[in-house]
Amino acid sequence: MSKLKWGILGAARVNERLMPAINEVPNSQLVAIASRRVGAAKATLEKYAPGYANSVQCYDDMEALIQDANVEAVYCPMANEEHAQWALKCINAGKHVLIEKPMALSVNDIESIEAAAAKNKVKVMEGFMYRFHPQHQRVQEIIESGLIGDVLSARASFSFLMKQARMYRINRSMADGGGALWDIGPYAIHSLRWCFQKNGKPIEPKSVIAHAKLNEHGADTVMSGLLDFGSDAEGRARFGHFDISFERSRKSEYEIIGSKGWVKCHAAWVFQNDVPVISWALEDGKYAEERFAPSNHFNLEIEHFSDCVLQDKTPYLTLEDAKANCKAMEMVLKAATKT
Ligand SMILES: NC(=O)c1ccc[n+]([C@@H]2O[C@H](COP(=O)([O-])OP(=O)(O)OC[C@H]3O[C@@H](n4cnc5c(N)ncnc54)[C@H](OP(=O)(O)O)[C@@H]3O)[C@@H](O)[C@H]2O)c1
Repeated sequence: MSKLKWGILGAARVNERLMPAINEVPNSQLVAIASRRVGAAKATLEKYAPGYANSVQCYDDMEALIQDANVEAVYCPMANEEHAQWALKCINAGKHVLIEKPMALSVNDIESIEAAAAKNKVKVMEGFMYRFHPQHQRVQEIIESGLIGDVLSARASFSFLMKQARMYRINRSMADGGGALWDIGPYAIHSLRWCFQKNGKPIEPKSVIAHAKLNEHGADTVMSGLLDFGSDAEGRARFGHFDISFERSRKSEYEIIGSKGWVKCHAAWVFQNDVPVISWALEDGKYAEERFAPSNHFNLEIEHFSDCVLQDKTPYLTLEDAKANCKAMEMVLKAATKT
């Protein structure tokens, strides 16, 4: 089987999950990693992919990796506000790019990425790895089957206690990419958007209200909000609620309430050791729980993206979806900045 040759731009912590994924799936191979900190690329490789020192090139210079002709696809896991600029450099060098969420902090930047990708004929996808877990495909099936009726409300909660060592994630304002909004918020907003559909297409929010607790840097440590997805054909309201926090204990779930029942995904963005389970109930009292065998969404995401490049297919997560999510994120940012 042919393998897509991957490079990683940044010695980020999330490489703990990505490096093994690229090495494990049959259609992918890690060939390079770069960091702007001298020695950090090599140290990351030794830590998360021991035994690959002879087959992976380590660079102390991001541009060197981008110019490496051996690298066909690049994974961009740097800080949120850096994703778009580095992705553009990679695309303009003819590389396919998997960009960590959020793809960018503005729809304008995603439009630039889209134009560059079309010009250079490369594939680009936003790294919402969770969508590749089979439990979300099952939730999607339940929605589309009409089991719980028309979707009228959805609620997404994502929280954990931020460790002292990770405080740099909240050392800049929300407008500059800091805080819970750009860190865990993209997952919550993405999940809510995927709950509301008409004829198989997502319905996008019409307006947003949000309330945030900001720290001294203007980064949100807690935010709650409501997205108004408009009324359905029968005039019923469709609301999406989100709740994200770095001050609360672990929560990673979304729940959808329809006209005939509800469905809940209990470990939506799946922390290590979480058991993926969904439950649902109907008006007539019927209740079910469905458990899923262990499955690694990072592996599934990498395998999918490599397959799209190697077989010239359109990625499951499209640029249309990335733009729509970013537009909703911009609405949340604006609403929360006003409070
Ligand atoms: N999908 C997921 O489950 C998941 C999980 C976590 C994060 N993420 C996303 O992935 C991205 C990276 O997050 P992360 O938490 O993995 O990032 P991180 O460890 O904070 O690293 C981000 C960037 O900061 C630099 N850096 C790392 N450690 C540093 C240090 N000690 N001192 C100075 N610079 C340092 C690195 O660039 P250089 O190597 O060039 O210095 C790295 O690319 C974010 O967009 C985040 O939202 C996704």
